Amino acid sequence: MEWEKEITNKIQNANSLTELEELRLSIFGKKGKLTSEFSNLKNLNDNDKKDKARLLNEMKTNLENLIFDTKNKLKTLELEQKIQSEAIDVSLFKNNFSPSYGHPINLIFDKIIDYFIGASFAIKYGPLVENDFYNFEALNLPKFHPARDMQDTFYFNDSMLLRTHTSPVQIRTMEQGKLPIRIISPGAVFRRDYDMTHSPMFHQIEGLVVDENPKINFANLKYILEDFLTYIFGDIKIRFRSSYFPFTEPSAEVDISCIFCKGSGCRVCSHTGWLEVLGCGVVNNNVFNAVGLKNVSGYAFGMGVERFAMLLYGVNDLRSFFETDLRLLEQF
Ligand code: PHE
Repeated sequence: MEWEKEITNKIQNANSLTELEELRLSIFGKKGKLTSEFSNLKNLNDNDKKDKARLLNEMKTNLENLIFDTKNKLKTLELEQKIQSEAIDVSLFKNNFSPSYGHPINLIFDKIIDYFIGASFAIKYGPLVENDFYNFEALNLPKFHPARDMQDTFYFNDSMLLRTHTSPVQIRTMEQGKLPIRIISPGAVFRRDYDMTHSPMFHQIEGLVVDENPKINFANLKYILEDFLTYIFGDIKIRFRSSYFPFTEPSAEVDISCIFCKGSGCRVCSHTGWLEVLGCGVVNNNVFNAVGLKNVSGYAFGMGVERFAMLLYGVNDLRSFFETDLRLLEQF
């Protein structure tokens, strides 16, 4: 039949599975050609009906087989095309290629950690989600202690929170009771803060040294911090200013002479000539009591990594470290 030739041709030349499906429906669908031919059979006399039915059935089998084969062919073809169009040419050469940048925060982390590894400190990490005991209570910050306001906290409920400093790692390490302890703990911390010099997530590095009493004292602390700050900032003056932290007694904040104006006074140092860079002190006995350590002494210190990065790279908005803006990141 003329029609059979025509449709066979169309099926063989179908370019896509959708086109093939349309053709199939035009044959076998409710209003399809073969469907109506079959229903027309009832109008024929018995003899003609028999011949026509045989013919139609033959046609049906042929077309079904052809559609089946064409479908498989098209499927393979479409898959091949897909694979080809999604292929990545790994050998493609790109001229102005920039290798991965170091994020400024990571670069400063590395620099600080390098120093302390050289000074025989071990690195300890701790969980970001902490409970009240490790973040506050054991650090001599009982509930309702006014110093809790120094750190605006994200709470999950009464006892679980996002750690506000890396100091809980001190507690977790001392709890194990093995002396001597000589660790730093780098990591992210969280506070409800957001402005030019604060972001809700930032990074600290905390140091802790503990040994049998009276091996560790303030002089040891002063020595290591002066050596460390000179390593990081070069030729600077350093001063220890009396301060308060619940977990250390005595406590101090450490200032360096302003690296921008060399101490003569500028906007960055608020015309004081000094920049505050870290907090430290001799571990408070209440902290040792909370972890069950007796007859020991120690020192601790903590610093903000973003603060160091801002000073060393001259970045004046801390938040820009976390905005993933390539124009900033590409400079490192
Ligand atoms: N944990 C203190 C803070 O986040 C910093 C600090 C650590 C101070 C250790 C003294 C000793 O503010």
